[in-house]
Formats: sequence, structure tokens, C-alpha cells
Amino acid sequence: MSVIETVVVAVWAMLPAYVPNNAAVLAGGGRPIDGGRTWGGRRVLGDGKTWRGTAVGTLVGVALAAVLNALAPGAEDALSVAVPTFPAAAMVSLAFGAMLGDILASFLKRRTGRERGAAFPGVDQLDFVVVSLGLTAIVAFDWFTDVFTLQVLAVVVVLTPALHLLTNGIAYALGLKDEPW
Ligand code: CTP
Ligand code: MG
Repeated sequence: MSVIETVVVAVWAMLPAYVPNNAAVLAGGGRPIDGGRTWGGRRVLGDGKTWRGTAVGTLVGVALAAVLNALAPGAEDALSVAVPTFPAAAMVSLAFGAMLGDILASFLKRRTGRERGAAFPGVDQLDFVVVSLGLTAIVAFDWFTDVFTLQVLAVVVVLTPALHLLTNGIAYALGLKDEPW
């Protein structure tokens, strides 16, 4: 695969994991998942992780994967790149894994004394990648190894922090998010 093809496949395959956290920012609010509970004097997760944000984020990611499946034949013609289609298990694991990764990161942030909204460099940018791909490797192993070759994984690891900083910067500039990370 050429570099361009590898980038197209990486972005296409990761879109159902990229979009949920941004959808959660738009949909967030309501009851926090931890119900206000604390552990060791600090919130378990904090007010930034809500049931509504998690549910909407996951649904948006799954819906996007379905849309990409429908668009795949046309995209292949237009881009001359064989883009992957998502089996049902991967639709859910990519979208829900992204939300779960972000939730686990908040858990770690609270345990390490970081208040809601505090930055945790590295973890903020890659938490959702590690968990969405890890979960996908478990529930759709053959598909995962087909699509996520070492080259594709390398592109994901390099490109994701950049895309994450960009989209969060835009959300911050638009006043949708309180911090640019
Ligand atoms: N959000 C949500 N549910 C989630 C993830 C995010 O409702 N599972 C919404 C919340 O309104 C949150 C916003 O998206 O405030 C931004 O998400 P994020 O930056 O992940 O949360 P923070 O508020 O910064 O909290 P934390 O320090 O725990 O990351
Ligand atoms: Mg944050």
C-alpha cells in the first residue's frame, strides 16, 4: 500500500472511534455515570462523564460506521483505495471502546489528583485509541488483523494526537468545550 492509501484506510477505519467523543461533547449533560460518588476523597469519574454523553457518543459512532459501509463502494471508485467495511461487532467496539477509553482516562485522572478538565498529556490523545482497538481486537480479531496492519497502526498512532488536538481546538474556539484538549 502507498502512504496515501495507508492514511485513507487508517482514517476510514478509525472514524467510528474518532467521532463519539466529539458527539459526547455536544450531547453531554445530565446524570454523571458515577452518580456523584467519591473514592479516596475524589470523584470516581467526575461530572464530565455522563450517561447521555456516553450513549449518544456510542450511537453516533455506530451510525457513522453504518453510513461508511453504505458509502464504501462509491468511495472505492472515487479514491481508488480499498476501504474497509465494518462488521457489526467492530461497529460497536470502535464506538463504545472510544467512550470507554475516555472514561478510563477520567478514572486515572481523578486517581492522580487531576480535577475535571485538567490535561493529561498523552493519555488525553490516545486513551480512546488503545481501548477501541483493544476491544476490536477481542471481538473481531480476523477483521482487526486484516485492516490494522502495522503500517496502518503506525499512521493511527501518529495521526490521532494531531487530529485530536485539531478537533478539540475547534470545539474550544467554538465555545463547545471548556479547554482545548
Ligand atoms: N461528555 C459526556 N460523557 C462522556 C464524555 C464526555 O457527557 N462520556 C461531555 C461532558 O459534558 C464533558 C465534555 O463532554 O464535560 C468534554 O469531555 P471531556 O473533555 O472528556 O471531559 P472533561 O469535562 O474535560 O472531564 P475529564 O477531566 O474527566 O476529562
Ligand atoms: Mg477534558
